[in-house]
Amino acid sequence: MTQARLQKLYSLGVQYPIMQAGMPVAGNVRLAAAVSRAGGIGTLGLQDVSVWEQSLKQLKQQAADHPVNANLLLPYTRKAHVQAVIRQQVPIVTLFWGKAQPCVRPLHEAGCFLFQQVGSVDEAKQALDAGVDGLIVQGEEAGGHVRGTLKLQELLPQVRALTQEIPCFAAGGIYTAEDVCRAVSLGADGISTGSRFLLTDESGAHSAYKQRLLDASETLKTTLFGLGWATPHRVVPNAATQRWCDKNGAVPAWLDGLNKAFGFTRKIAPFKPDAARGQRADIPFFTNAVIPEHLSAELVESCPLYAGERVKELTDIQPAAQVVQSLAQGFERDETRMQA
Ligand SMILES: Cc1cc2nc3c(=O)[nH]c(=O)nc-3n(C[C@H](O)[C@H](O)[C@H](O)COP(=O)(O)O)c2cc1C
Repeated sequence: MTQARLQKLYSLGVQYPIMQAGMPVAGNVRLAAAVSRAGGIGTLGLQDVSVWEQSLKQLKQQAADHPVNANLLLPYTRKAHVQAVIRQQVPIVTLFWGKAQPCVRPLHEAGCFLFQQVGSVDEAKQALDAGVDGLIVQGEEAGGHVRGTLKLQELLPQVRALTQEIPCFAAGGIYTAEDVCRAVSLGADGISTGSRFLLTDESGAHSAYKQRLLDASETLKTTLFGLGWATPHRVVPNAATQRWCDKNGAVPAWLDGLNKAFGFTRKIAPFKPDAARGQRADIPFFTNAVIPEHLSAELVESCPLYAGERVKELTDIQPAAQVVQSLAQGFERDETRMQA
């Protein structure tokens, strides 16, 4: 059944149902191209509209004939992002955090395979009604912005029960072949991970950020880094979270209010990684921007260090192709088990 559901993706040239999640800054052209060339689904994280089309073009060139994915993080997506995806004939698109419906027709008319990442059964139903071609089921243990409140183990079987027709990928703490096997046993046809691919040679995250993840043993779910977009996200603690969050990640009500009051900036300000420049742990203006390599390493104390709850399982930085190969073993083991 899984093989039948994956047929469309295989026909696009995907070799393994392994997706590198869209991540601004970390999920740059270099990483996405490396993942796609290795047979997985490499994803370009959303970028400012001024550079987006050029990056899509470069990604298609660097991925050679392998299929690539564009991530449309809907609260920051403008019409021009969608038009660029269509013009560049990007074969796969992943939507996150919003209604798929307005994007479905134009992207389908352009021939895109359309995933939506969802965090609840209701959201999965809405995505199916809108006509998406695949779902990514995000468990609450996921790194980055966390859409729902249920762990993958609980949510995935419920979403699987809604559809036998289209592929369901699992996201949240899937870093090894064993994790892949577990996800498959819960009903997943494929997997998506951000944190595992962030810790690769090719990812565009700052090396000091990568080191903090390697050293980390726990994460915190908070809304601290929410200036302009006050939604829950999972991060590794740093000086900013220590200064402003309680032990459960909650921030003072006035700070939440401040973050929400800046919501209007989301649609007008450029979506630039340099937004993190000048951020300080003691000054509570915390954007969601990830630190790029060219900014100061000291920003690890005041910028979001997004990572999944199982961060302590991540102990090394690998080439992206090696990550794809080792996760793929989880699918091969599962097939062997089925044949036995
Ligand atoms: C650094 C980082 C940035 C992320 N940014 C996005 C994003 O822009 N769009 C998106 O669809 N998901 C984003 N995510 C969430 C992933 O899609 C996915 O749900 C998550 O990485 C799964 O959990 P894992 O990190 O434990 O693998 C991000 C995750 C991380 C770690």
